[in-house]
Amino acid sequence: FDLFMMKEIFEQPKAVAETLVGRLAQDGKLVLEEMKLSVGDIANIDKIIFIACGTAFHSGMIGKYAMERWTRIPCEVELASEFRYRDPILSNRTLVVAISQSGETMDTLMAIRHAKAQGANVLSICNTQGATIPREADAVLYTRGGPEIAVASTKALLTQIVATFLIGLHLGEVRGTLNSAQVSEIYNEMLELPAKLEQILETVEPLRELTRKFAEKNTVLFLGRHVGFPVALEGALKLKELAYIHAEGFAGGELKHGPIALIEEGTPVIAIVPNTHEHGLDERMLSNIQEVRARGAQVIAIAAEGIDIPGAAHIIRIPASPQMLQPVLATVPLQVFAYEMACARGTDVDQP
Ligand code: F6R
Repeated sequence: FDLFMMKEIFEQPKAVAETLVGRLAQDGKLVLEEMKLSVGDIANIDKIIFIACGTAFHSGMIGKYAMERWTRIPCEVELASEFRYRDPILSNRTLVVAISQSGETMDTLMAIRHAKAQGANVLSICNTQGATIPREADAVLYTRGGPEIAVASTKALLTQIVATFLIGLHLGEVRGTLNSAQVSEIYNEMLELPAKLEQILETVEPLRELTRKFAEKNTVLFLGRHVGFPVALEGALKLKELAYIHAEGFAGGELKHGPIALIEEGTPVIAIVPNTHEHGLDERMLSNIQEVRARGAQVIAIAAEGIDIPGAAHIIRIPASPQMLQPVLATVPLQVFAYEMACARGTDVDQP
């Protein structure tokens, strides 16, 4: 690989596999020793708050969808840099989950101290053994992504998403909102992610070629719904960070509340098409695609095999997966897009 970022993009199947390995025992129970949260602690939780910055914040946003579905515990997500200066309502029944690749991000560390001072329990998701954040937290779940050398976070995000899911499954199982058959089913679907990621990585070269068509554009917009919404935000963040161009992510349902005005003839819009028909999410995204196309957008859809996308100028195919797991797959083409836009525009990819 010419650059660390592409090397790290290609390390994602392994990073995800390592983060999952050995987490489910023969009897179907999740094994998460590093967490150090007792059954009593877990039974006591009445609110969960994810705190993080940047890309790690997006993993918290995705984690919230899974956490609420699987545990039925109210869950919030907050930027550490806001949380630390607020007066959040916390108690010893609040579980704060701090997510950080480096384990040294000052805002996240200060947010942890702020939460602990008010009696909350703090669990950290961290990629760096022995860093300050896991040392100050009450418990830790290490992601096993290996070191990230490129500044832009790639494999850390995917493993953080997986970690939030593992915690959600564990809490759901202990609290009885999921039975062990459901836990095994979801866990087994997660075990299929590395092979699906490998399939996506086989399409990197055509994706780079497609990306170069957009190198002269000065605005790229990203649209998603449900767990695809944080994916859209992440796509935009990577593009801003690496290629230095205007990029924004929107929830599909928000388009009509203002952002559609940004779309001009030829504006690239990357749409993450949901895997699910639940709540009509897929149809709603397809109608968003028609709305932006009517304004002249050039739509690039990210969608599972077999889904028909009328109106898309380009379709990037990813393997089908349950909706909750789709972000792990859908993020990868967006990383490649940002990488290639940066290369085409001559910016420093590894050290933006
Ligand atoms: C974006 C990126 C940053 C980090 C953020 C948090 O590509 O890398 O947004 O995600 O600075 O860093 P950690 O996870 O180390 O706390």
